Amino acid sequence: MTELTLLEKIVALCKRRGFVFPSSEIYGGINGVWDYGPLGAELKNNIKMSWWKAMTQLRTDVVGLDGSILMNREVWKASGHEEQFADWFVDCKLCHARFRLDHLKENACPLHPSKHPGECGGELTEPRRFNLLFKTYVGPLEEESTLTYLRPETAQSIFVQFKNVLESSRMKIPFGIAQIGKAFRNEVNPRNFIFRSREFEQMELEYFIPPDTGFQYIEEWKEQRILWYESIGIPRAHIHVRDVPEEERAFYSKKTYDLEYDFPFGRQELEGIAYRTDFDLKQHGTFSGKSLEYYDEERKCKYIPHVVEPSAGVDRTLLALLCEAYREEEILGEKGEKEKRVVLGFSPRIAPIKVGIFPLLKNKIDIVSKAKEVFRLLQKHFKSFYDESGAIGRRYRRMDEIGTPFCVTIDFETLEGVREGVLAGEKNTVTVRYRDSMRQERVRIEELVDFLREKIE
Ligand code: GAP
Repeated sequence: MTELTLLEKIVALCKRRGFVFPSSEIYGGINGVWDYGPLGAELKNNIKMSWWKAMTQLRTDVVGLDGSILMNREVWKASGHEEQFADWFVDCKLCHARFRLDHLKENACPLHPSKHPGECGGELTEPRRFNLLFKTYVGPLEEESTLTYLRPETAQSIFVQFKNVLESSRMKIPFGIAQIGKAFRNEVNPRNFIFRSREFEQMELEYFIPPDTGFQYIEEWKEQRILWYESIGIPRAHIHVRDVPEEERAFYSKKTYDLEYDFPFGRQELEGIAYRTDFDLKQHGTFSGKSLEYYDEERKCKYIPHVVEPSAGVDRTLLALLCEAYREEEILGEKGEKEKRVVLGFSPRIAPIKVGIFPLLKNKIDIVSKAKEVFRLLQKHFKSFYDESGAIGRRYRRMDEIGTPFCVTIDFETLEGVREGVLAGEKNTVTVRYRDSMRQERVRIEELVDFLREKIE
């Protein structure tokens, strides 16, 4: 399988099985914007819940925030976004395609894909600068005084609410504020499916620390974040840490690590971990005229806290999980013939559906009603899916393709008693089939919830 076709296969599977659709598709779509279908919404929620739990539940030094997307325009002046949040771009005079100046070597000429833009005979225009903020107006009048922007990062509401959170939660430095939410950037060249889009979701933590500890905490957060990716199914060996050189770092950062992943289109950033110094709180203090200083009782002194920020993308994490999970296998079908099966080998913790429940035959009323009873039992605990249509092998295959780790089948032995093995003679048992090994195991219905929970959690 070539790497390019891997992405094409993932995009096709996402559409076919309801993970990701192009936004507004029936109207021809809108470039760089995507909708998450039923399975994509589940997967995305599982990623977000896992991050939120790791930050705000399993740690006692992090609290959450759910800030607004629209903020006072002064925020974006203070943060530097209004002035500086811009990319340089060029146009090809021959094919009229537009490219980010810093991405020329990553891009292919649309007419001659083996060549980079500008190297194909087409002349490029002089670079032009373009601000990535999406403008909008607050209230009925569209004028300078009502202008603001859709937030390009979630971080700023954390800085702006620093004092409120500090005072209401009585946290003490070092502590963090975590936020998950939408961000918007009018990217020059949205591409690579959900990797670079114009509307996306971030999971950001601003960790507030004493001034002299930034280089220490950035190392700690780098390790914590790699552990989190491991916990959702991306092995440490697949995360590449890049120590970003000064000339590539954001102007406010004294040190940045990028956590990169080998996507089918190359090694790219999954998450940035930046030591932002006291830049943001200082700016907001100056622009708002409100002091954002902190009195450190242990050190007996006042200072503007410094910040280490691990900033991850939900969409990029989801894409990395899909790339990690996708595999094709040749197996033997029910009649011994060779068959291809597509599997999304998600970690059970992150899989959109945890368990499929099937009656062996849909025309056997007792089996069907028992299967529905088992479904009602399991759906209270796990995202479950009931399916009675088609041959059982086909139903398994459908679950494999969307990454369901377990399937439960209700059959004649459930009603009549097990024919052989350790549970011989017992009624009210089911088979549990494992997605990865395709092995099957007989389990008592009364033990099923605990049995599955132990494997999922
Ligand atoms: N507050 C810091 C910040 O926003 P960033 O490196 O610009 O830093 C952080 O963005 C993360 O947000 C990236 O590592 C990526 O996962 C995600 N992200 C940024 N731009 C994106 C885009 N256009 N589409 C999808 N995800 C994006």
